[in-house]
Amino acid sequence: MSRPTVALIDRSALRANMALAQSLAPKTQIMPMVKANAYGHGMVQVAQALSEKAPAFGVACIEEALELRKAGIEQPILLLEGTFSKDEIEVAAKSNFWLMIENEPQKAAVLEAKLEYPIHVWLGIDTGMHRLGFPPDQVQGIFSQLEHSSNICSTIVIASHFACADDLGGPKTIQQQNTFKKCVASTVPDRGTDRQLSIANSAAILAWPDAHFDWQRPGYMLYGNSPFTTAQVNADMLTPAMTFKSAVISLRNISPGESVGYTSNWTSNRPSSIATITVGYGDGYPRHAPNGTPVLINNIRCPLVGRVSMDMITVDVTDLESIEIGDEVTLWGPDLSVNEIAHHCDTIGYELLTRMPSRVPRTYIN
Ligand SMILES: Cc1ncc(COP(=O)(O)O)c(C=O)c1O
Repeated sequence: MSRPTVALIDRSALRANMALAQSLAPKTQIMPMVKANAYGHGMVQVAQALSEKAPAFGVACIEEALELRKAGIEQPILLLEGTFSKDEIEVAAKSNFWLMIENEPQKAAVLEAKLEYPIHVWLGIDTGMHRLGFPPDQVQGIFSQLEHSSNICSTIVIASHFACADDLGGPKTIQQQNTFKKCVASTVPDRGTDRQLSIANSAAILAWPDAHFDWQRPGYMLYGNSPFTTAQVNADMLTPAMTFKSAVISLRNISPGESVGYTSNWTSNRPSSIATITVGYGDGYPRHAPNGTPVLINNIRCPLVGRVSMDMITVDVTDLESIEIGDEVTLWGPDLSVNEIAHHCDTIGYELLTRMPSRVPRTYIN
């Protein structure tokens, strides 16, 4: 009795992908990135599904962290961009949120705060992405200030982020890794457990073992999708956790020369059968998906034809042997990669997943 457009989330796939990350970086800590509603998969439900094996979670802002706490998640939660205002520091310290410190005002605010509890910090270094982090030549001084502050817990994690770890042949990842290692070795004393290191995102966990260090920060791979554009032996073992499903709601036959949908941007060149599916850009299916983007109907690939509407798409089903109203449709999932759809739309799967609106009910299995 309801619209058949749903995102089915398979918790066993999430757990298997997490286990793969752990097996690739054994004896290190795997911190699931659950920001942006767990890349569209449902932040609280994903954190609950992975809670047993996750030592901590990563989010983009304190609002996300507070939502996890409210839902009963007890692990430390890292705020990947740190705080945006001073008043967040006390809340973070009380709530066992960990702070990335990546610029001077953030550092000053933490050192000056009057805290009841010391706070765990991650010190962000800019190794070449030039988005966040301190220049490597400032790290020694900043680390020393942090380690001598009673506001800061004794274990400090030195962190950085890769710009191009999905580029398997490119030089940038090695350069950033070398900058990171050199900076740490020359400026931060290793006295056992009091400093730890973290730089690996999904692509680095899967393909750059020298970058594994103490903490891994997997996002996209946990949701079962490869960050690479070509086959990669570890990434090929991932299982997509989301199946974005809908159903056929109308069928019609049209003559050669008839066009379909808004702006009439597709015209048949033969007698054609057109199926209408109840999913559109209001559900996160990209409006700029071009004619020919694959859609699975009864497990057979059929081409999208005509413009994506807010609530519907149209598909050429002329070559299907049989089709009926109510037949199942998959927009992406284990049998049709979100990366492939993203490629047709000149974007990345990350964007398609994180933009899925709440109108699409998430249904959890396993
Ligand atoms: C600092 C940081 N670490 C880790 C990740 C996870 O990256 P991925 O989803 O490619 O694994 C992100 C994602 O944006 C990030 O910003």
